[in-house]
Amino acid sequence: MNTAMSGPKGARGRRFEGALDPVAAEMNASIEFDRRLLPHDVAGSIAHAEMLAAKGLITADDARAITEGLRRVEAQLVAGELPWEAALEDVHMNVEARLIDQIGDAGRRLHTGRSRNDQVATDLKLYTRASALRLIEAIDDLRRAFLAKARAHVDTLMPGYTHFQRAQPVRLAHHLLAYDAMLERDRGRIHDAAKRADVSPLGSGALAGTTLPIDREHVAAALGFAGVTRNSLDAVGDRDFAIELVAACALLQVHLSRLGEELVLWVSQELGFARIGEAYCSGSSLMPQKMNPDLAELLRAKSGRVVGDWVTLVTVVKGLPLAYNKDLQETQEPLYDAVETALASLAVARGMVASLEFDTAKLRAAIDSGYLLATELADYLVTKGVPFREAHDVAGAIVRGASAKGVELAALPLAELQAAHPRFEADISDWLDPARAVDRRDLPGGPARARVLAEIDRISRDLGVQPPA
Ligand code: ARG
Repeated sequence: MNTAMSGPKGARGRRFEGALDPVAAEMNASIEFDRRLLPHDVAGSIAHAEMLAAKGLITADDARAITEGLRRVEAQLVAGELPWEAALEDVHMNVEARLIDQIGDAGRRLHTGRSRNDQVATDLKLYTRASALRLIEAIDDLRRAFLAKARAHVDTLMPGYTHFQRAQPVRLAHHLLAYDAMLERDRGRIHDAAKRADVSPLGSGALAGTTLPIDREHVAAALGFAGVTRNSLDAVGDRDFAIELVAACALLQVHLSRLGEELVLWVSQELGFARIGEAYCSGSSLMPQKMNPDLAELLRAKSGRVVGDWVTLVTVVKGLPLAYNKDLQETQEPLYDAVETALASLAVARGMVASLEFDTAKLRAAIDSGYLLATELADYLVTKGVPFREAHDVAGAIVRGASAKGVELAALPLAELQAAHPRFEADISDWLDPARAVDRRDLPGGPARARVLAEIDRISRDLGVQPPA
């Protein structure tokens, strides 16, 4: 059967005589990207049809024909047995027109009490909810990769940096688990965005609900929504849930870009702290010796793209009058791009972190120059009753003296320390041992061995990871 006869070609109906101008049709159509909504569109339509039957608005036979027809159309579209048609504008019309083609009048009853406006809002909320779940799983997979590396490097010491200047020694595990702290916040933000997507817009109609006695709660429950939206004008015009999810993805990407940057630094000949597995590196077309950290660089770059998605989205919505405006169609691509980029970035980051091999000797050696234990001198004096500002001053003078002589702190004779301050005694040598210096930082959030181990336990429980036997 010809679609133009059997159902609306596109959604314009008989109000129109002619077709859209081809360039207008091209801009108007969303099928190239909104086909991603197919499973959600079909689930929403099945829930809607079953509710229509429960309310006596269509027969049980029609509801059954619609449900079976929708499942068949979905399978045929997925298998490529039915082509996506740009002339049918969007995913909603592609599905509905094919349903009508295949089951006739029953299919013509599906859109009873519904508009594409509440339909697309519902599809997008279902997509957002499902995407949030996938993102959370991918985040947890990356966290597991960090956790495994942290477990292997509890006793690997390395310089901690501020201003990218060697600052104080830390455990490599502590450094790696800093990423867990960021990712845990990302996870929380995504979870939170999903909560706002968890209310059903169906029944809001085009903007003002419907005169027909539909049951919104019935549809919401069938789709697993926690409830229904409270205002029909808002429900069809709201894309906050997408903006929130994309904002959470943007910040996640910013964290991954910081990881990308650290990896680039770590694998440089200048630091040589780590190696990234070959599966994540590229060569140079000109220089045979090169092993470039391309994927780390791309992780660093993708943040720009997703921050751009967020800017696009929020700018599209800004200044729109209430309810549905076609502008809202433009909120879809940035949403999909952010979700897909974040999922791909998380998968790459997970593999790359798992592939890392650290040069523990180089990390350890990097602690031995640069006066990383100067703070210990000051803290030591504080324990002997010297006011911190004075102690800080004394330690600064000692560093200056050592630096002029070109020696490290541990090489200074006790007499020289005592000349700088009489409170120095022989036990200062304990304080100038890096491992002990790290373990003295024994407070919540600190790098002491016991604290890092406790943190590894907490995160393992959180992620359902069994401790090693
Ligand atoms: N493709 C459209 C979108 O994504 C579906 C809703 C169309 N509604 C309308 N009134 N034209 O926004």
